[in-house]
Amino acid sequence: MKKTFGLLFATAAMAVGSFNAQAQDNIPEDMKALMTKHTCIACHRVDQRLVGPAYKDVAKKNYTDAQIVELIYNPKPSNWPGYPPMAPMKQVPKEDALKLAKWINTLDGTAKKAPSKKKA
Ligand code: HEC
Repeated sequence: MKKTFGLLFATAAMAVGSFNAQAQDNIPEDMKALMTKHTCIACHRVDQRLVGPAYKDVAKKNYTDAQIVELIYNPKPSNWPGYPPMAPMKQVPKEDALKLAKWINTLDGTAKKAPSKKKA
């Protein structure tokens, strides 16, 4: 009886712990895995400036997915005055860069479906 209770308690505590971790940075697990693997997580969050801009603010620039991929490989520090320059991340496989780009573009809160957001 005592044992069962202890186990239940431990499970509940673990569940609460992981829920908090998610609420804190609201990055989906698969994207978090990519950001960790390619170290983006060291400098970027969804809605908070860290070393680099919040991805939400990147989303507001209305880049196409392809433009974001290009910026991951060849950052343009002049787009972000007041930030240090991001190092080119050419080691990121295109497939992963595209997944991150697509996700970043969903973060501006307007949930746009129009494929024709060409700008810049
Ligand atoms: C060492 C810190 C650092 C790391 C690691 C890093 N970034 Fe950045 N990132 C920045 C900074 C600083 C900027 C703003 C200045 C710039 O664009 O050079 C930025 C800008 C960006 C932008 C906006 C580009 C633009 O011109 O609007 C995107 C998109 C981006 N990063 C994605 C990523 C992704 C994806 C990764 C991981 C593959 C990553 N970053 C890793 C620091 C970092």
